[in-house]
Amino acid sequence: MLHIRYELTQNPKKKPEKDDPLTFGTIFTDHMFVMDYEEGKGWHDARVIPYQPLSLMPSAMVFHYGQEMFEGLKAYKGENGNVLLFRPDKNIERANNTNRRLCIPEINEEDFLDALKAIVKVDKDWIPEKEGTSLYIRPFIIATDPFLGVRPSHTYKFIIILSPVGAYYKEGLNPVKIWIEDEYVRAVKGGIGEAKTGGNYVASLKAQVKAHEEGYSQVLWLDGIQRKYIEEVGAMNIFFKINGVVVTPMLTGSILPGVTRASVIELCKEWGYPVEERKISVDEIYEAAKTGALEECFGTGTAAVISPVGELRFEQEKLQVGGGKIGQLSQRLYDTVTGIQVGKIQGPNGWCVIVE
Ligand code: COI
Repeated sequence: MLHIRYELTQNPKKKPEKDDPLTFGTIFTDHMFVMDYEEGKGWHDARVIPYQPLSLMPSAMVFHYGQEMFEGLKAYKGENGNVLLFRPDKNIERANNTNRRLCIPEINEEDFLDALKAIVKVDKDWIPEKEGTSLYIRPFIIATDPFLGVRPSHTYKFIIILSPVGAYYKEGLNPVKIWIEDEYVRAVKGGIGEAKTGGNYVASLKAQVKAHEEGYSQVLWLDGIQRKYIEEVGAMNIFFKINGVVVTPMLTGSILPGVTRASVIELCKEWGYPVEERKISVDEIYEAAKTGALEECFGTGTAAVISPVGELRFEQEKLQVGGGKIGQLSQRLYDTVTGIQVGKIQGPNGWCVIVE
């Protein structure tokens, strides 16, 4: 059991009103979890303290070489008032995979879960209850050595902050428009594409700005070598339904292994859909869209949940999907995943973890 010290705020902030749109990532709760790492001492001094600025040297390594890991998961208020987490074990496992890839010391899985539960419990009154809302949890680790040489840091901070959120996209559950990017690339096999780290997101900005200027929400990345095979969207994994078959890019090392992605694959298989995790060329999607075989396209992610895609822009062509409306499977997945998350629907064993 992780020993946690508590220093609670004397000045709680005003919580958002019930009808606040909770624009993603703009509001933060009263507290944060912090734990330090030092070589020889390990992870220590776990504490819940008031949400506040950090004090770091300008030479802290994270500012220069980007040695950082982050995760994203959500807490929900269940039907009977329980506080629930969705598959936190998966995020913890992925966090430690990222840590290993980036030479960051791993965190004991039970301690990680204790930390998540502790901070969510303290700020549980911040969990919004309106449909489509939740408390987004952002755990992250930063390298703090004051040093300008390139090597792994010897000291780190593990921090968890919380943010009440609504839909990630302003479109909500209405289909978004996605730009298939053929100039810039996000990641290559052997790089850090499958790690959850800021570097992958800064690599995406240039193309995202370009896509926004053209009226598209996000970018769909192609593989970094042949620029032929579909990888993932900026903040979500991607799925297609082609002639009744659910297809998603296989994990090749340059794609983020999404928790919602894995959950959707399990649900679709349980419902009897043929599911294929394989290489998908952009030409195949182009053909499927042209012949009408492309029935649905949607993204999956913790922030994005299930986000239907209504248009794919490839080179000069605008490919319409599902008449710009949410498809039947996308809607069923959205209802089921969000139903499981709030405990309204019984999901597979272990998907819902009760905080209290
Ligand atoms: C998430 O879905 O939790 C993510 O981390 C995506 C994020 C970049 C908004």
